[in-house]
Amino acid sequence: MFEKIQPAPPDAILGLTEAFNADANPRKINLGVGVYKDANGQTPVLDSVKAAERRLLESEKSKNYMPIDGSPKYAGLVQGLLFGNKGEAVASGRSATLHTPGGTGALRVTGDYLRANHGQITIHMSDPTWPNHPQIFEAAGLKVATYPYFDPATNGLKLDEMLKALDKVPAGDAVLLHGCCHNPTGVDLPPEVWKQVAGILAKRGALPVIDFAYQGFADGLQQDAQCLEAFVTGGSDFMVCSSFSKNFGLYNERVGALTLVASNKERAAAVLSQAKRVVRANYSNPPAHGASIVTTILEDAALRRQWEEEVKQMRDRINHMRSLFVDTLKAKGVRKDMSFIARQRGMFSFSGLTKAQVDKLRTEHAVYVVGSGRISVAGMTDANMDALCGAIARVMG
Ligand code: LMR
Repeated sequence: MFEKIQPAPPDAILGLTEAFNADANPRKINLGVGVYKDANGQTPVLDSVKAAERRLLESEKSKNYMPIDGSPKYAGLVQGLLFGNKGEAVASGRSATLHTPGGTGALRVTGDYLRANHGQITIHMSDPTWPNHPQIFEAAGLKVATYPYFDPATNGLKLDEMLKALDKVPAGDAVLLHGCCHNPTGVDLPPEVWKQVAGILAKRGALPVIDFAYQGFADGLQQDAQCLEAFVTGGSDFMVCSSFSKNFGLYNERVGALTLVASNKERAAAVLSQAKRVVRANYSNPPAHGASIVTTILEDAALRRQWEEEVKQMRDRINHMRSLFVDTLKAKGVRKDMSFIARQRGMFSFSGLTKAQVDKLRTEHAVYVVGSGRISVAGMTDANMDALCGAIARVMG
């Protein structure tokens, strides 16, 4: 049966981690995968998470199955993070949340739900986007298209082209947007543009799907959630795919959520029931531990304060690395203006490094960067900055 099977190519991002792990060079630097590193180059378990786990160890009484859509308490807390506890989308009951295995799980449930209930529609995504986005939605059987987004000439947004393209999206299609900390470019939509986009998609009759994997990493937990406001007030149906890998550091617990907002409570319940069907036929019900940690932290005032402070520390460290990176590149003699990196947000920036330069960084300097030139700023530290910028200066000539 397996005689004709050829090996698959390595994953653009996680395949790079495999190569990094296998590299024996003690000075190797990983700017590939989007994983937060502290000042010591470690990916820490947050103190608030450790404290919650200690409580759970004492209080947990059963490892019984979770409901297909996870616990209602978790769902309510996730909605509070997205819309505020008193938000209309919550109070009206027109939103529903499923606990999913990570943000990727939420995206795949979205894709499966759309394919099963809306037919073989097209989902439009930014050019460029996270390489897993097209894979996930194609695997679910949807068609994939792109809309203009990043402008390499300005390292900013192709605003007019993007709005024009969105204004042509056929009714019934879906449009994938990055809530904040756009992956891979670090270029986000300004608040007034979110309003324009929400207005255009409502007018077109297209479904906004917001990938919200970095809440808290741009400007703050509440500030980052402002992007959802335009959709709530615009009254359109939409979906939000949350990940708690980054802001809770719960990468390997696989904890995320899919939140859908419909025109009323009855429609929300109907969509939720269809999403539960696709979950049951896939992973049946979600893994409990990560969501129990998130629940324990969010419902305890002291733990929640501690967690919010830890999110702030991660955000501040990344932003500090952004400016240090720009300054150190300059000090190393890089003449190209790289100041745009300090203006971008989140874990990633498009460095403008070519494929040849990326290859050279890896083979000659053991610096690992995704082939597109995306760098994970979260992998930089005070200790590796000098060597990193020296290597980049050399490959940039
Ligand atoms: C990334 O883009 O590096 C992260 O979202 C991790 C992943 O799964 O690719």
